[in-house]
Amino acid sequence: MRPLIAGNWKMNGLTEPSAALALAIRHGLADAGAEVLLCPPATQLAAVSALVEGSGIATGGQDCHTRDSGAHTGDISPVMLADAGARYVILGHSERRQDHGETSAIVAAKVSAAMKAGLIPIVCVGETESDRSAGEQETVVGSQITESLPSDFTGIIAYEPIWAIGTGKVPTSADIAAMHAFIRGELIRDQAEGVGFRILYGGSVKPGNAAEILGLPDVGGALVGGASLIAEDFLAIIRAV
Ligand code: G3P
Repeated sequence: MRPLIAGNWKMNGLTEPSAALALAIRHGLADAGAEVLLCPPATQLAAVSALVEGSGIATGGQDCHTRDSGAHTGDISPVMLADAGARYVILGHSERRQDHGETSAIVAAKVSAAMKAGLIPIVCVGETESDRSAGEQETVVGSQITESLPSDFTGIIAYEPIWAIGTGKVPTSADIAAMHAFIRGELIRDQAEGVGFRILYGGSVKPGNAAEILGLPDVGGALVGGASLIAEDFLAIIRAV
């Protein structure tokens, strides 16, 4: 399986810059050894999906509701994401867990809804800095995995240590490898098919550290925030595969 390099644009992207970024990535991609995914804000999803159509680049949402439709003001359903061209959806990102009070139980319900709509969920897990200082990172991530994944889960896990997001701080390679091995072990224990699931690393992935991170055992790709907003940086990360 080729590594997946996913760009999480977060709450960034008006119409023209989003189109320019999507096209720059599309045109800069030559013989990529990776699968490439762009997750723009929902307002740009249909347009970006149309701009990358036929290129092999996939698109995804950054969150979804548990229902397909209904009286849920401001929410976006997984069916709507799929209708706008998405193949993937990021769920349980720490920014959603923190800013919107999303518990792992809520994330699990969203994961089930996304799978039902035919989307591939990318489920984010990760510890805080204080969890790590207390040596609790595996306990925290282990609970997030157990509680955020439905028993019939198929999809992708993204390990994003919260303290590494947007900070320029990155765990040591040994720590990333150890956590990915731990997550793999949890997936195999909880899910018969866990052996085949991709585990992405996210948190301050940049052109300068991508090759080392992507070369680590059990790192099946990267979930990139800030650097995915700069076409040349994102392309450099893709080429680091
Ligand atoms: O989902 C990606 C993310 O949280 C990492 O962000 O800016 O540290 O690459 P960044």
